Amino acid sequence: MIPLLGTLKAAVRLRQLRRRFPLSVFHPGSVVSQDSNVGNYSVLFANVGLESANLGAYSYVQSGSLLTNVEVGPFCSIAGGVIVGLASHPMHLVSTSPVFYDCEQPLPRFFTRERLVTTHLPRTIINADVWIGQNAMIKAGINIGVGAVVGAGAIVTRDVPPYTIVTGIPARPTRTRFSQDICRRLLESRWWERSDAELERLAELFAVPDRLLAALERPK
Ligand SMILES: CC(C)(COP(=O)(O)OP(=O)(O)OC[C@H]1O[C@@H](n2cnc3c(N)ncnc32)[C@H](O)[C@@H]1OP(=O)(O)O)[C@@H](O)C(=O)NCCC(=O)NCCS
Repeated sequence: MIPLLGTLKAAVRLRQLRRRFPLSVFHPGSVVSQDSNVGNYSVLFANVGLESANLGAYSYVQSGSLLTNVEVGPFCSIAGGVIVGLASHPMHLVSTSPVFYDCEQPLPRFFTRERLVTTHLPRTIINADVWIGQNAMIKAGINIGVGAVVGAGAIVTRDVPPYTIVTGIPARPTRTRFSQDICRRLLESRWWERSDAELERLAELFAVPDRLLAALERPK
């Protein structure tokens, strides 16, 4: 009886999501909080959680990822098992356990009736066209620049400049995707803000950055 109720609730949640964001695709088990938003043509694969998160158009998030308190730009590819917005506990108190400092946490028993410390979670920013590899973790408040790549398994504790590839624990830059000149011109072009019709027309030029830039920089 209980498993059946759970299945029914999950089916209702999925239907509500599909009604709320009719141009996007949702797989079973995905949860999107009321204060989150999903852009058009985005995909949430199975068991993805969005909590106070805005996901840009044409972005997708693979299974089991959890995105908290974050702005995600358009055209982002987020692999499975990715955690964005890792929170911090205060470390200057005797104990880091919330049972001593915040009775509003979702825990069954406290040693305080107050919220003695408010843990402010800074907002994380993931700009347009970012690719985040499997099982990467991004600390709360990080800014990941346009076109950057986060390698699988990385733990990102510092901002990532645009078009930079970072890997490892802690994540460190290994290289940029293009020359300095191309990175600068791609950033200036803001191609990800062009209309769908224009992107459709330009799509075949995306294979060669120089050719796309020549088209974008041509006076109208
Ligand atoms: C980071 C990544 C994009 C490769 O970038 P790259 O610049 O082409 O890297 P290379 O393969 O040339 O490797 C460069 C160096 O980084 C290391 N490296 C590559 N990926 C790494 C990773 N995820 N973590 C740690 N080190 C990594 C390589 O071992 C190599 O080290 P070396 O120079 O000491 O030999 C890729 O390895 C990766 O992590 N992709 C994510 C895949 C994924 O999660 N897909 C999910 C589906 S969306």
